[in-house]
Amino acid sequence: MTNHKEIAYADFILHNLDSAVIYPNPYRGKGTKVGWETKELKKVSIASKKGKIVWIGNSNELSDNVKIAANAKFYNGEGLLAVPGFVDSHTHLLYAGNRADEFEMRVQGKTYLEILAAGGGILNTTNAVRSLSEEELFIETANRIELAMQSGVTTIEIKTGYGLDLKNELKMIKVIEMLKEAYPIRIVTTFMGAHAVPADRTNDSDSFVDEICKEWIPAVAETKCAVFNDVFTEKKAFSVEQSRKILNAGLKFGLKPKIHADEVNVLGGVDLAVEVGAVSADHLLMTNDEGIKKLAGSGVIPTVLPGTSTYLMESHHAPARKMIQAGLPVAIASDHNPGSCQFLGANIIQSMAMLQLRMSASESLIAGTLHAAHALSMGNEIGAIEVGRYMDIALFDLESFKQIGYHIGQNYLHDLIINGEPVYSD
Ligand code: NIG
Ligand code: FE
Repeated sequence: MTNHKEIAYADFILHNLDSAVIYPNPYRGKGTKVGWETKELKKVSIASKKGKIVWIGNSNELSDNVKIAANAKFYNGEGLLAVPGFVDSHTHLLYAGNRADEFEMRVQGKTYLEILAAGGGILNTTNAVRSLSEEELFIETANRIELAMQSGVTTIEIKTGYGLDLKNELKMIKVIEMLKEAYPIRIVTTFMGAHAVPADRTNDSDSFVDEICKEWIPAVAETKCAVFNDVFTEKKAFSVEQSRKILNAGLKFGLKPKIHADEVNVLGGVDLAVEVGAVSADHLLMTNDEGIKKLAGSGVIPTVLPGTSTYLMESHHAPARKMIQAGLPVAIASDHNPGSCQFLGANIIQSMAMLQLRMSASESLIAGTLHAAHALSMGNEIGAIEVGRYMDIALFDLESFKQIGYHIGQNYLHDLIINGEPVYSD
């Protein structure tokens, strides 16, 4: 046996951290086992090169194991806790205006679908989005991107779906590109032309679906900006049959399927997710034991959104515990949007996962980082502090990650590292 030592080369060192959270048995995709354990390493340093982690270890052993470039940057991590940057894999962050009046109507007893059917809800926001320019929409959304980053989010998905005509859907895609340009946070675009049936097409939803499949999807694919194609499979939105057409049309153009399933009613969205090989099925508020069985082993990431069920004042929440028991790689995300969920920020979603879904602190952290990364098809690149992955890290002024969800509504983020670069300091 040779005593050969691998030397890592580094250009950025996160030095002398109090602790860093690693996942000893990370889920590595379809067919592999889900691990829910976390480990807090003490007195560690993390080194990266060109944005990727090359070494994690005891701070005393850094110089023996890592060759540090002459112009390398050091970041003093004394007193700080490092966790993987949060991944918010489901948001409708790009919108205009607000729906505070509808919020109050819901508090007084109107339901979300009643408000949508009366031309409010998503259609209300669609009018606001259509009336603004790209620059105005950018300004409306920039503040929310900053709030997400301030909570520790390093990757965020943003859906279209408030344009609901081709011109305005493409406008939303353009604004998301402007956000990608302006901010260091990783942004993933999801096309969601099938978010609602526009008010003037309600008697004619099949032809609206045909238009999405034949005209919008090819045009969206041509921009090369969107990765995913999402659909709202629900009463008063899109049937399973219509959703199938839309997701299959997207697949032909390289757009990977996602689905809003079982949010209010169980229509068969989970079966469709499995059938088309969706990357994720989201909401799953009403999903029953049969649905959980179908999801098991399918590779579809079940993404639960505890902020939404809370904001919709549901007494019932997604059956996350049963899903975990069934071995599913449960992910959590914010679903931030102007109607059904105004919660914004990874820390509050961590608290909601614990309080409403009864997930442990470890489960909530893994669900909001690694599994959420899988929900964006990035499960092997981001979402964990591991050699070979991007150095995307949230640094907190906390002793343990267990305090993130515990200090509900409080923010102890100290800094955010994205791609091996500090991008924010409190
Ligand atoms: O995920 N359910 C559909 N879409 C969003 C709500 C969007 C809105 O109300 O503006 C959701 O809940
Ligand atoms: Fe949503």
